[in-house]
Amino acid sequence: MIKFLDFEPMHIQISDEMKNAFQRVYDSHWYIQGKELDDFELEYAILNQTKNSVGVSNGLDALVLSLRALNIGVGDEVIVPSNTYIATALAVSHVGATPVFVEPRMETYNINPELIPVAITKKTKAIMPVHLYGQSCEMDAIMEIAKANNLYVVEDNAQAHLSSFNGKLTGSFGDINGTSFYPGKNLGALGDAGAITTNNEDLALKVKTLRNYGSSVKYYNDEIGYNNRLDELQAAFLRVKLNYLHEWTQQRKEIASWYNEALQMRNDLVLPHVHENADHVYHLYVVRTSNREKLQQELTEKGIQTMIHYPVPPHLQQAYKHLGFKKGDFPIAEEIANTCLSLPIWPGMDNTVIDQIINSSNG
Ligand SMILES: Cc1ncc(COP(=O)(O)O)c(C=O)c1O
Repeated sequence: MIKFLDFEPMHIQISDEMKNAFQRVYDSHWYIQGKELDDFELEYAILNQTKNSVGVSNGLDALVLSLRALNIGVGDEVIVPSNTYIATALAVSHVGATPVFVEPRMETYNINPELIPVAITKKTKAIMPVHLYGQSCEMDAIMEIAKANNLYVVEDNAQAHLSSFNGKLTGSFGDINGTSFYPGKNLGALGDAGAITTNNEDLALKVKTLRNYGSSVKYYNDEIGYNNRLDELQAAFLRVKLNYLHEWTQQRKEIASWYNEALQMRNDLVLPHVHENADHVYHLYVVRTSNREKLQQELTEKGIQTMIHYPVPPHLQQAYKHLGFKKGDFPIAEEIANTCLSLPIWPGMDNTVIDQIINSSNG
């Protein structure tokens, strides 16, 4: 049995350090908004090459707080890709704004900058690029469009820690950006966790207030805030894992290149395509095939778990029925949803596992 994601090699590698981190927090008798969170925020900001990072409860909340900090709300529109994980669109809806879907490029699966200008209206306030599967969006073009139209940029960096475009890290382009440390992410906690990253001190402070009931001085509340804090235990665990992120990202890239090499002769499979100026950190290794169900079934029979990211694009979800879209409205997103299949990938996956998967998918 080969799991889609096997934490075991990573967790064996860091076991002692993680236990020490637990013990440190346990013995500190301080569990919310303490030293671990402060240190994690400093360390993550350094890793992400931004002036600030603010730890929050999860990736969705990071995006909601980012939009709140920019005062985006009712009556506003925010441009999002039509093939994203639904959390991107949900964040827009939660602040009362409307997500406006823009198709991705078929080659990279990332939002097509050429289609953004036609989606801009008087109500548009921001663009939310999603670095899907771990590949950076075309951030040069997106930043240019945003500047020309006086729009904010909020990157959804949930799947792309340490990815970059023209050498600049994702999560450091936008005015304020959100990321997720859901356990299966490239940098994952042992539960829910997330962060915002920004070079803007005022926005960082605003999120710090919003995540803590709208309060910066205990029992004085300046905003209608939330409880969206990142707890000390998760911060301490993330501090351990953060030190391994470069090594683990490198391993993901190596596994992807083994897959690429071994599957290149399969002309029924579309392999990942990386834009010439983008980096790909392979949060997911996604292939496409018109025989997706058959391939998935064959792999399942051979004990290999695969997943579909994602089977239904946001515009066809029940949750967005009120926007009135129908099948065929975003054909590229729909085609990706109907043909994509994610193969197992995780740091520590060894050659024998990879050979087994490759031999199975080669029939
Ligand atoms: C692209 C994207 N955005 C946002 C999220 C939301 O993150 P979380 O699950 O931590 O709320 C996720 C992950 O689940 C994601 O993949």
